[in-house]
Amino acid sequence: MDTFEVNGRRKLSGNVKLHGAKNSALPILAATILIEGETVLHNCPDLSDVNTTLSILESIGCTVRREGDTVIINAENVSCSDIDECVMRTMRSSILFLSSLISRTGCASVYLPGGCDIGTRPVDLHIKSIKNMGAVITENGSSIKCCADKFHGAKIILPFPSVGATENILIAAAISKGKTIIINPAREPEISDLAEFLNKCGAKIYGAGETTIEIEGVEKLHPCEHTIIPDRILASTYMSACACSGGTIVIEDVRPSHLSPVFPVFNEMGCKLYLKDNALKVVSPKRLRRVRMIKTLPYPGFPTDSQSPIVAALTVAKGTSVLKENIFENRFRYVNELNRFGADIEVNDRLAVINGVKELNGSEVYATDLRGGAALVVAALAADGKSTIHSIHHIDRGYSHFEECLAGLGADIKRINNEESETKKTSEKKQI
Ligand code: UD1
Repeated sequence: MDTFEVNGRRKLSGNVKLHGAKNSALPILAATILIEGETVLHNCPDLSDVNTTLSILESIGCTVRREGDTVIINAENVSCSDIDECVMRTMRSSILFLSSLISRTGCASVYLPGGCDIGTRPVDLHIKSIKNMGAVITENGSSIKCCADKFHGAKIILPFPSVGATENILIAAAISKGKTIIINPAREPEISDLAEFLNKCGAKIYGAGETTIEIEGVEKLHPCEHTIIPDRILASTYMSACACSGGTIVIEDVRPSHLSPVFPVFNEMGCKLYLKDNALKVVSPKRLRRVRMIKTLPYPGFPTDSQSPIVAALTVAKGTSVLKENIFENRFRYVNELNRFGADIEVNDRLAVINGVKELNGSEVYATDLRGGAALVVAALAADGKSTIHSIHHIDRGYSHFEECLAGLGADIKRINNEESETKKTSEKKQI
């Protein structure tokens, strides 16, 4: 298992470019199986979650080719409607294949994703919605079989604007009979990106990003070329790293409107933000200030995925900050690890109280989940001395070449391949 080794307390400086958004790439890749032909996706990040999704596409009969940041998928010969149980369990977002598989093959067998590292994460809204659109569901223990000759339009009122459920509905409704209306859909930029992709392929989706989406079902979609939006969560992670370690960085290829929910928080922390075209300059103050209250909410509220890196930055702010997690019930597991750096955070149910300390000290810690892992990197970059971060496979799910990008900003961080170093040690011993 790889680890990160970090020697902290280096001010960050320089430019870094965002890669494509993981949370856009995954549903768009799932949707490519609707298209009998070659889809070309630019800015498709090289991440383990994306690579697992590409393996799923191959396992059901697609051909997949990567040329740098561009991925080319040919879904002419989709032949299978089952996703391997192991993959389903390792990557929860494979539930995004539900509608596209049904639409393409008439059936989908999926395993109910169990509890995960940040909460129980049920899929009832996905199932109920596609049932409304004509799918017949047979539950069999931990797996479900969903079948439909063709989806039909429906009026779907989501009690909560679930991102994944909205994506499954959009994909189901794209090729369907009649009109679908989604009331209270998720409004995240990744939803608009999926809709834009589907519309380029001939779908008729209106109002993505708003409080109601209407979809006129079409008979067929055609291939297209699409560029995935930049990753706004990666942007907020770099902003947190800069805020925590000090320094000035420029983040390239940002979409300012996607970051508007996090800008006020960084301003309140005392960071100066300058936008020029799509470049965001972040200048951190001598010492960060506390933030009164952050509440995670569906977009356009403050994103739950940005909470962990920002909490890491707030550990060294002057004063006490409070963060309320409203989306997932178990998203503070990384806090125990952050406290190992000497941070002072108390968690009570969904509330984290962050008592700012003067400085953090290097530590040996374990990533508990993707964004929690990124928070540990943010803390390690600012901490005095050496830190080792284990279980970084969680971080690799969403951050492409993270250590190289941070090293490009002046951080002293490297990836240690422990298997390689063990083998090297053994062979050195043998030679002696
Ligand atoms: C997506 C993102 C994830 C982000 C989250 C919220 C991807 C691949 N993942 O996850 O990074 O943190 O949005 O912005 O895009 N819920 C139900 N029933 C359902 C579906 C969801 O109760 O059928 C609940 C969940 O348990 C959770 C909340 O709704 O408490 C939000 O989930 P959802 O918006 O669906 O998140 P994901 O699509 O899983």
